Amino acid sequence: MYKNDFPILVKNPGITYLDSASSTQKPKYVIDKVSDYITSSYANIGRGSYLLAEKSDTYYFGAKEKVAKMIHCKANELFFSYNATYCINTIALSLATSGYLQEGGEIILSITEHHANILIWQQLATQYKLTIKWLDLHTDYTFNLPQLQELVSTKTLLVCLSLCSNVLGIKNDVRHVRQII
Ligand SMILES: Cc1ncc(COP(=O)(O)O)c(C=O)c1O
Repeated sequence: MYKNDFPILVKNPGITYLDSASSTQKPKYVIDKVSDYITSSYANIGRGSYLLAEKSDTYYFGAKEKVAKMIHCKANELFFSYNATYCINTIALSLATSGYLQEGGEIILSITEHHANILIWQQLATQYKLTIKWLDLHTDYTFNLPQLQELVSTKTLLVCLSLCSNVLGIKNDVRHVRQII
């Protein structure tokens, strides 16, 4: 993708946009596709058998198949929501209601996390008497993985890390993190 693919950047040529984690700008083909969908096929998904609902089902579930292929999971394991905070809150609250968050348990977060991946855990930590452990960084801003090894214990309920930081531009080694936990 290039700047010219984004109408907003073409209209504002002086801008270098670095806040995509907050609000992602849309390239023209996404804007066109959304507009086409709203003007030609819009309906609720998963609950209608009329033409527009079936078209919407095809787009929605087709998109899930494509994303699943891209990130190597099953389509029925995907959950589309409107933002990161809502996704993490949903997962966190479902862990809470399932009884997974037992008193004395520990949650590991890194010091680079956005509030979207901190506040809900802090609230649940207070409610369920859990401890949050903080993973530090090396001087090159990558995760301190030897420290992660020390933080993980039988009390660890969850390790919730942003593997790619938009603030630091660092991509952490997911496979290595996975091996440790
Ligand atoms: C790095 C980062 N993570 C998460 C979020 C939260 O995003 P959302 O609005 O999708 O909940 C933001 C929002 O600014 C962000 O910058």
